[in-house]
Amino acid sequence: MEQRRIVLGVTGGIAAYKTPELVRTLRRGGAAVRCAMTPAAGEFVAPLVLQTVSGEPVRTGLFDRVEEGAIDHVALADWADLLIVAPATANTLAKLAHGLADDVVSTVALATQAPLLVAPAMNVNMWRHPATQSNLATLRQRGVRVVGPETGALACGWEGEGRMAEPAAIAAAAALVGGPRPLAGEVVLVTAGGTREPVDAVRFLGNRSSGKMGFAVAGEAARRGAEVVLVAGPSALPTPAGVRRLDVETAQEMREAVLGELPRATIAVMAAAVADFRAARPEIRKIRKEDLPSEETLTLELVRNPDILAEICRHERRPVVVGFAAESQDLVETARRKLARKGCDLLVANDIAREGSGFDSDTNAVVFVWPGGEVEELPSLPKTEVAALLLDRVAKLRGGDG
Ligand code: PMT
Repeated sequence: MEQRRIVLGVTGGIAAYKTPELVRTLRRGGAAVRCAMTPAAGEFVAPLVLQTVSGEPVRTGLFDRVEEGAIDHVALADWADLLIVAPATANTLAKLAHGLADDVVSTVALATQAPLLVAPAMNVNMWRHPATQSNLATLRQRGVRVVGPETGALACGWEGEGRMAEPAAIAAAAALVGGPRPLAGEVVLVTAGGTREPVDAVRFLGNRSSGKMGFAVAGEAARRGAEVVLVAGPSALPTPAGVRRLDVETAQEMREAVLGELPRATIAVMAAAVADFRAARPEIRKIRKEDLPSEETLTLELVRNPDILAEICRHERRPVVVGFAAESQDLVETARRKLARKGCDLLVANDIAREGSGFDSDTNAVVFVWPGGEVEELPSLPKTEVAALLLDRVAKLRGGDG
């Protein structure tokens, strides 16, 4: 965010109370921030607060001679290299979509040549209304970036989509706008986390995957300008900025989600730890010890799950496919065999027996294994760096430079 010149347009929603924190987050990142507010925004946050935290005069109206004398609205629009509208109410989204300019925020939006990022916030029914969704589609088509909204309890008392994204998430999304975008035009499909295979109403077969590796790949791909779809097993990790996330639980659900997104994907990175087997007959109710033939043993019949990676590699119109392999011995040899068996373009083998590598750690020690048999061994690195190096390699496979 160093050197960025951001105009923050604040409109009249309760989430406006979070904008002083947003201004501080953007400034901490190195950006200069100037605020413009609609009259309704002034009901939720005082202009003086935004003036104090931004260190800049605040525009509150179009026709105030003192404000216009300090910085006129067209000069403000020209000064910006990014316009963020947060919170963006349904009313303001409608104005932006249709080119209305009847307050200082919508007027600056119409006058500026800077990219626009909006953080919608409103009641869930207003959000779901076809008019709002159609306005958003218009804005998206025009290249406007959208961050959030999040789902949860709303100030109006309803539950659902409509909460403004947190200031940190808006700042992260802002950092993506306007930077270099070497993966622009690519659609990257990533799987992450472990699947859960139900045994009965309360138990499941799972594994220790946290999702960190796959989420790092998804976040890095979005930073590089790709459209990213993340198919995630249960994980408490926040969705990386600019990523569309599909939550799944079982291997079969993961397969369905992956196959649904596959036709548009140009790159697929399969970092999920998918259960190879599932219970043949999961019980709908809880299995009780008293009901079992023996108190000492329980026999569970397992059946094979689909191999998603192998299936997409066989697909007629397959993207560039990267597989992962979690190995605890003979890392490279096992990975070479796995790559040949599954048919992917690159296999990332990680040594899960090694301290600070594999499941749930923030670092990973990986070896890239190529179809010709070549290997590239990396030292233990943060998963974010492994993700970056991996995408450098993938971009070359796609004919770019990452
Ligand atoms: O999530 P973290 O805590 O950050 O941990 C990261 C990780 C260790 C889970 C990750 O780096 C990793 O190695 N993921 C793959 C783990 C795994 O299941 O490996 P595998 O050798 O069983 O599977 C090989 C490949 O086939 C993987 O790409 C896997 O997604 C895929 N697969 C496996 C089984 C199956 N039924 N369908 C699949 O698509």
